[in-house]
Amino acid sequence: MFENRLLKVYKHKSKLAKRQGITCYRVYDHDLPEFPFCIELYEDKVYLAEYLRRHGMTDEEHEAWLEICVACICKLLDVKDEIVYIKQRKRKANRHDQYEKTDSKQEYFTVMENGLKFLVNLTDYLDTGLFLDHRITRKMVYEQCAGKRVLNLFAYTGSFSVYAAAANAASVTTVDLSKTYLQWAEDNFAINLLKNKDQYFFIHADVKQYLKTLQPNSFDLVIIDPPTFSNSKRMKDFLDIQRNHVELLNDVLHAVSKGGTVYFSTNFTRFVIDKENIQATTIKDITRATTPFDFEGRLKRWCYRIGK
Ligand SMILES: C[S@@+](CC[C@H](N)C(=O)[O-])C[C@H]1O[C@@H](n2cnc3c(N)ncnc32)[C@H](O)[C@@H]1O
Repeated sequence: MFENRLLKVYKHKSKLAKRQGITCYRVYDHDLPEFPFCIELYEDKVYLAEYLRRHGMTDEEHEAWLEICVACICKLLDVKDEIVYIKQRKRKANRHDQYEKTDSKQEYFTVMENGLKFLVNLTDYLDTGLFLDHRITRKMVYEQCAGKRVLNLFAYTGSFSVYAAAANAASVTTVDLSKTYLQWAEDNFAINLLKNKDQYFFIHADVKQYLKTLQPNSFDLVIIDPPTFSNSKRMKDFLDIQRNHVELLNDVLHAVSKGGTVYFSTNFTRFVIDKENIQATTIKDITRATTPFDFEGRLKRWCYRIGK
């Protein structure tokens, strides 16, 4: 059953990826409930994550079952099993976790997207360093960034920032609470030979507090992609995206120039935007327009283009 399904989706998606010149894409995501995997291709490497669930198998039985599944994936995707990376995706231990380290192999390698380079790590963290579902959004941002002062909030490894810098933004400011991810973002700039230190800023801060320090008309284009919940010792208060999005977006808009644009994304499935209380001139839902072929019908995030 798994073989048939994987073969079918791989044939279909690899054809579309090839046509669009895409080398990193999601092949399979929990298509069959009995095989709760997420499978992504990062060029010649396979990222395989198993969603944790009560499977009723003993550890030995589970190990044997996984081995058969991996063999099947290797055969169908035509890869050697040493480049299948296995991760067990569990729910975060508590909703305040920023990120979870899963290993410390420190194996980074470079992949390409739209002619730009990104470092990915398939073993050490819950996520790989490049969120594939925002491929189209990154391109959109790229097309609008030339000459603009760009701010990337909750920037993670700075993939939006790299696109902005490559598009000749006037300045690119990258903000994240994690020093690890900020360094990763700087490394992504370095491998793309984006070296203009005077125009690129990497800021280690809590976004909620950082926004309160900004003057009006500080930025022209902002990307804001917050986690659903966030808390840490550095924060005075925790962030709950449903509860806090109006305040957060109004603080962003306060710092944006007239005619400026904010790209806002959230992974909170049950998110409802409170349009009336956001001080914007336009709010457009661009979830569909930013959904890549490999996430069609299964994307659980929202994306908006907000104008001032
Ligand atoms: C969903 S990821 C953002 C993904 C990113 N926009 C991308 O497309 O690659 C969330 C990021 O927010 C950061 N973060 C969480 N809480 C934060 C806070 N209060 N202030 C700043 N960054 C925070 C995390 O460290 C993580 O890198």
